[in-house]
Amino acid sequence: MAIVTGGAKGIGLAAAACLVREGAEVMLVDWSAEAASTAVKSLTSVSEGVSGGVDCVVADISKIADAEHAVAATVERFGGVDILVNNAGIQTFGDPITTTEEIWDKTMNVNLKGHWLMSKYAIPEMLKRGKGSIVNVASVQGLASQRNVVAYSTSKHAMIGLTRSMAVDMASRQVRVNCVCPGTVNTPMVQSVVQSDRDPDRLKIILDKMHPIGRIAEPSEIGEVIAFLASDRASFMTGSVVVVDGGLLLPIAGSPE
Ligand SMILES: NC(=O)c1ccc[n+]([C@@H]2O[C@H](COP(=O)([O-])OP(=O)(O)OC[C@H]3O[C@@H](n4cnc5c(N)ncnc54)[C@H](O)[C@@H]3O)[C@@H](O)[C@H]2O)c1
Repeated sequence: MAIVTGGAKGIGLAAAACLVREGAEVMLVDWSAEAASTAVKSLTSVSEGVSGGVDCVVADISKIADAEHAVAATVERFGGVDILVNNAGIQTFGDPITTTEEIWDKTMNVNLKGHWLMSKYAIPEMLKRGKGSIVNVASVQGLASQRNVVAYSTSKHAMIGLTRSMAVDMASRQVRVNCVCPGTVNTPMVQSVVQSDRDPDRLKIILDKMHPIGRIAEPSEIGEVIAFLASDRASFMTGSVVVVDGGLLLPIAGSPE
């Protein structure tokens, strides 16, 4: 029984598809009702022939009542929670001067507080079942930064802290907590950033070239790593920060071609 937040699109949808293929029952938690119901339909075809079922609950993870309801709805629908993928997130922009208090609070509430809230309610359900696995989706921007992303990058750095502190607290009770840090991924989030650029084609080429592997990731390439960390195949991993970035963080700045 797995919960995937932000499961209606992008990385969350891809992770959900991997989990469904592995036989998990998956609850998508998303604030977009329309996208979530479309995603359930698409995943239902993936689940044909495997045991898992798929459903969705509309919730804003940054709201405590919604987070509590999302976990309760999963327990009611599937009987418990084994896996939580804390993936929902928003991209925001601004430097220390241009970032407004509203942007700062919204970014922290969704990208950080929401993951703690979902964990707060999911972990007791995992403990009832004797073990569990949480996978947090941070970013390379949790390990390094770039211009104009003060709130976003700070929230992703903090997510690594949340991963490590929850891992320490829960390890002896058999709840593992790990984190993935993707490079750029071809999702609706990135597509909208590219499309809003003055020269989308040029930006796409720049993004591809920034990654030593020569291209940005497809969502399934992150989903597979999430599904691995969520599974018993990663049974001795907790508190790990797994970089999945096509080599993006590798070169020393200014490395010649
Ligand atoms: N796409 C990338 O290049 C990239 C790189 C590194 C990290 N990430 C992280 O991966 C995660 C997923 O990103 P994506 O690119 O798939 O995003 P996306 O925008 O394509 O999809 C995000 C999904 O989360 C949902 N969502 C957002 N806020 C929510 C909330 N408060 N409550 C419930 N649902 C909410 C949206 O409705 C959407 O379905 C995010 O945390 C993002 O920061 C993305």
